[in-house]
Amino acid sequence: MARYFTDSEVDSSIILNLKVALIGYGNQGHAHALNLRDSGVKVTVGSYEGSKSGAAAREAGFEVLPTIQACKAADVIVMSVPDVPMGDIFRKDVLPALRPGHIVDFVHGFNIHFGLIEPPKDIDVIMVAPKGAGYGVRSEYVRGHGVPGLIAVHQDYSGKAWQTALSYAWGLGCSRAMLMETTFRQETVSDLFGEQAVLCGGIIECIKAGFETLVAGGYDLEAAYFECVHETKLIVDLLVAKGLHGLRKGISDTAEWGGYVAGPRVINEESREAMRQLLREIEDGTFTREWIEENRIGTPNMLQARQIEAESQLEKVGTDLRPRFMK
Ligand SMILES: NC(=O)c1ccc[n+]([C@@H]2O[C@H](COP(=O)([O-])OP(=O)(O)OC[C@H]3O[C@@H](n4cnc5c(N)ncnc54)[C@H](OP(=O)(O)O)[C@@H]3O)[C@@H](O)[C@H]2O)c1
Repeated sequence: MARYFTDSEVDSSIILNLKVALIGYGNQGHAHALNLRDSGVKVTVGSYEGSKSGAAAREAGFEVLPTIQACKAADVIVMSVPDVPMGDIFRKDVLPALRPGHIVDFVHGFNIHFGLIEPPKDIDVIMVAPKGAGYGVRSEYVRGHGVPGLIAVHQDYSGKAWQTALSYAWGLGCSRAMLMETTFRQETVSDLFGEQAVLCGGIIECIKAGFETLVAGGYDLEAAYFECVHETKLIVDLLVAKGLHGLRKGISDTAEWGGYVAGPRVINEESREAMRQLLREIEDGTFTREWIEENRIGTPNMLQARQIEAESQLEKVGTDLRPRFMK
């Protein structure tokens, strides 16, 4: 059974007495840097010559240093660079700066779980993974709340790694919501699986297929867009706020009945077997090997997929419709 923590169980003075270097100022990095600074933590940003986001960090008032210098000057080093180049960045710019007792924090367990980074034994290795995109991590903090966070310790050299991880999560605002104990393996596999099978893969394909089916059946593009794209938010908001039962109570009984009889025809045994296969390929490292190879050759397949999606009918209809009603 996982342990849960909230604000009252966290010692905020730990992180307030440490210097943090955010390596990377992208989606996650900028949110961590801003939240920590607003919580009173001393933050610098590690970057490289010519980095656009390094310039944005400087603009936001942060001291920006070459990564190796930022690491040397810090007690806590946060790896908020993209997962695939992270190993090379670690070996080139972080490892040479490490001293015994340093704390290296990951936002996602990918590199540690798959053995792509092998940290020295005389440092703490922790993970504070906010359950939200960087935008949400920042906007929730600004409105006085926070997103839940997953906490894990891979290496506890100091004997204080847990307390430090909890304290860092306090600085991010996550303990205002909830902190939950996990492992690097649990977080990595479930995160990759959730992205692929549900959030960024399954749901999106379901939306696209629904839109294309209505349009091919001769129905208006706009009606298809509202039904299959726009209204997903209303349903997801209800589900997140009130659960399955609450969601069913918020829709008509016709919609509820239609869902019961039609849903399992769309997501059926074949789809569930596809999900089990995705999980096996994440667990055995197949997905990671293929993603690293795609990066090695310059991501041609990802760029092509991006282009096809950008030019799709669904995207064109949405781009035209959204400004008409979203203010
Ligand atoms: N996106 C999310 O909200 C999200 C959610 C959960 C977990 N995570 C995890 O958070 C970590 C960071 O992902 P992200 O999505 O925030 O990445 P991102 O938005 O792509 O940002 C990466 C940052 O790293 C910088 N960078 C790239 N190469 C660098 C180098 N050699 N030295 C120093 N900085 C360098 C980039 O600078 P330039 O842009 O100037 O090149 C940018 O500021 C990953 O482990 C990811 O799995 C992300």
